[in-house]
Formats: sequence, C-alpha cells, structure tokens
Amino acid sequence: MLNNHDKLERNSFVLLVAIIIVVAIGGLVEIVPLFRVETTIEKVEGIRPYTPLELAGRDIYIREGCYTCHSQQIRPLRDEIERYGHYSLAAESMYDHPFQWGSKRTGPDLARVGGKYSDAWHVEHLINPRSVVPESIMPTYSFLSKRAAKIQDMDKNLRVQKIIGVPYTEDMITNAYDDALAQANPDADSDGLVARYGDNVNIRDFDGNPKLTSEMDALIAYLQVLGTMVDFSKYEEVR
Ligand code: HEC
Repeated sequence: MLNNHDKLERNSFVLLVAIIIVVAIGGLVEIVPLFRVETTIEKVEGIRPYTPLELAGRDIYIREGCYTCHSQQIRPLRDEIERYGHYSLAAESMYDHPFQWGSKRTGPDLARVGGKYSDAWHVEHLINPRSVVPESIMPTYSFLSKRAAKIQDMDKNLRVQKIIGVPYTEDMITNAYDDALAQANPDADSDGLVARYGDNVNIRDFDGNPKLTSEMDALIAYLQVLGTMVDFSKYEEVR
C-alpha cells in the first residue's frame, strides 16, 4: 500500500487525477444534499406559505424595488438583535421565491416589521413618509391606494410557486381569488381562508377603504406578516 503511494507521489499526472477524484467526492458529499431544501432547512413551527393577498403584496414590494433600500435579514449580531429582534432563521424565507434578503440598508431592515406599526401608520407612511418621519428620504407611494390589486389570477401565481416547492394545495389554488378578497374585507366570510392558512392570518381592511382591494391593501398585508410567523416566546433566548 505504502509502496503504491510512493508511485502515486512521484507521478505528478496520476497524483493530479487522484486529487481531483478525492476532492470531487468531498465536494459532492457537501453540496448535493443542499439541493434538497427539505434536508437543508430545519422545520420551524408556524412558518406557512403566504396567503394570496400577502403574495400579491410581495410582488408589489419587488416591482417597486423596495429591496433596493431595505434588507430582510437580521444578522446574529448584538446590535442588530437589539434593534430589530431575533435574528432571521433560514426557515423564515424558505417560501420566498426569490428571497428578499437584500444587500443595502438605506432604510431599516424589514424582516420583523410585521406588527410594529398599525395599518394606518403604514398607509400614512407609504402615502407620504415625511408626514410620520420628517427626516425620511423614502419615496412616496400614494398611487398604491388608487390602484386595484391584481388578484384575479392569483391562482396562476400560486401554481407557479407550487412548482418551485411551496406547498400550496389544490384547495388553496382554486380559492386564491376569494381568499385574497376575504383577507382585506373583515365582513366577508373568511372561514375558508382561516382553514387554509391558520387563525393567525391578519384579516383587516388594511388601507381603510372598503370599496377597493387596492395595491396598498396587498402591500400592507405583506408588511404586517413579515417576521411574525414564528412565536419566539416559545424558544429559549440565545444571545
Ligand atoms: C430610496 C430608498 C427607499 C426605498 C426605495 C424604500 N424605502 Fe422604505 N424607508 C427608507 C428610509 C430611509 C426609511 C427610514 C425613514 C422612514 O421611516 O421613512 C424607510 C422606512 C420604511 C419603513 C419603516 C421601517 C421601520 O422599522 O421604521 C417601512 C415599513 C418601509 N420603509 C417600507 C418600504 C416599502 C414597502 C417600500 C417599497 C414600496 C420602500 N420602503 C421603499 C428608504 C426607502
């Protein structure tokens, strides 16, 4: 065995091939399991796919380029945890396609902005950021309250998400439009929505205008769920 190793070490070409084989095996063992998200990300209780209205809001977030100024990833560093809350878990963005971690913080991180402000605050802030934060440099998005959210064909959107691994059921896909309408209308029958997505879904008229399910409704529904799916009070705090 050792004699053979001697030969290997003296023949640089054979040694090169042997090194490539060994490194390739090591690489495969480390990389291949990562292709399967189920084996990579630890399951965390509470994480659910976005409701159709939240997903529509997420599309608006991406369309408007909110990610160019806002990150959605709290790093496990003391100052970040004190400012924004528990650091982000991988599972919290497992249904985000594409993920919104971002790389630039002109404004604050939004990974846990859900529940931090009232819906009315968000409406004010999106219509005119300076009215609530005088020194803000965030652009205004007042047009969102006048535009109807494109929720009619959310079933197609859900179906695509399903193809790339989000566990939407056929029931969720068929009822996507009704669920989107029900979430922004507290007077509507929301039993189906709650049965499909759980009873921690926010069901409110987010923009305060019952006549229209606007892009503002969708975007605020999305902002208000960010970082709220996991109940961290059940876990021991690690610092
Ligand atoms: C040009 C950069 C920029 C863009 C684009 C931008 N923001 Fe902001 N945002 C800021 C800044 C700066 C602040 C901090 C001042 C303030 O609260 O207005 C902020 C604050 C916020 C806050 C309050 C966060 C907190 O914890 O206080 C929310 C929510 C928010 N932005 C949402 C959005 C959304 C949604 C979009 C896209 C529709 C967006 N922002 C686009 C710069 C931006």
